[in-house]
Amino acid sequence: MVPIEAVLREIRYDGPGSIACLECPRKLHALPGQYFLANSTDDEREIIPFALYPTTCTEDWLCLAPCPAHWQAGDRILLRGPFGKAFHLPADTRKVALFDWDGLASLLMPLIHQALYQRSEVVLYTHTTPSNLPPEVEVLPPGQLSESFGWCEVLAGVLCRDSLRDFFQMTGWRNHLHLPSHAEVLIHTPMPCGGTAECGICAILLKQGWKLACKEGAVFSIHDLEVE
Ligand code: FES
Repeated sequence: MVPIEAVLREIRYDGPGSIACLECPRKLHALPGQYFLANSTDDEREIIPFALYPTTCTEDWLCLAPCPAHWQAGDRILLRGPFGKAFHLPADTRKVALFDWDGLASLLMPLIHQALYQRSEVVLYTHTTPSNLPPEVEVLPPGQLSESFGWCEVLAGVLCRDSLRDFFQMTGWRNHLHLPSHAEVLIHTPMPCGGTAECGICAILLKQGWKLACKEGAVFSIHDLEVE
C-alpha cells in the first residue's frame, strides 16, 4: 500500500488523550475499529510508526487518536492504511452497550455514529466522556457495565492490552458468564511493523493461541480472549 503524506493541522485535547486532525491529499475511508499506521517525517528519529484510529470525521480532515504526545501542528505525517478488522454491527441491532476502560472512548465514535444511524439505543460506559459525544448517547460509569448484559444485543468496547487482566478481574468476566453472544473489543497495543516483519510485539493471547493484533485484530471477539 502506497503511503500518503498528510499535514497535521490541529491537535484537539479530549479528556486524557488527544486527537490529531490531518489534512490529506485525498479522502481516506476506514470502518469503525480499523487503524492507520503513521509517523512524522519531520522527526528522523521517528522510524517506528504509531497505530491511530479514526474518531469523528470532519468534512475536510481525517481525525485520528491517540495522537502521539510529541507531534505538533504543522508536522508532516506519513500515513498507511486503513488496516485491520472492523467492528461488526448487524443492521438490525437496536440496543448497543459500549465500554471504554482506558480513556479511549473517542476511538468508539465511528461505531457510535454507525449505531445511531441504524437507530440503535446506545449506552457508553466510561469515566471520560468524549467532548463531541452525541446527546442521544447515555453515559454511565464502567462499574455498571455488567447490568447491560441483560438488555444489549451488541457489546463492544476498547481497552489497552495491558489492562486486559485488570478489566477481566474487575468485571468478573473470566468465564464470560452472561456476556451477550455478540461481544467485541478493540485492543489498543503498539504495532511497530504492522505485520510486515512479524515482530510479534502486538500479540494477543486467544483460546486458539497467540494472534497478531495488526493482522487479525485489533478488534477481537471477547469470547475468544484468553486472559491468564
Ligand atoms: S506489529 Fe509486528 S507483528 Fe504486529
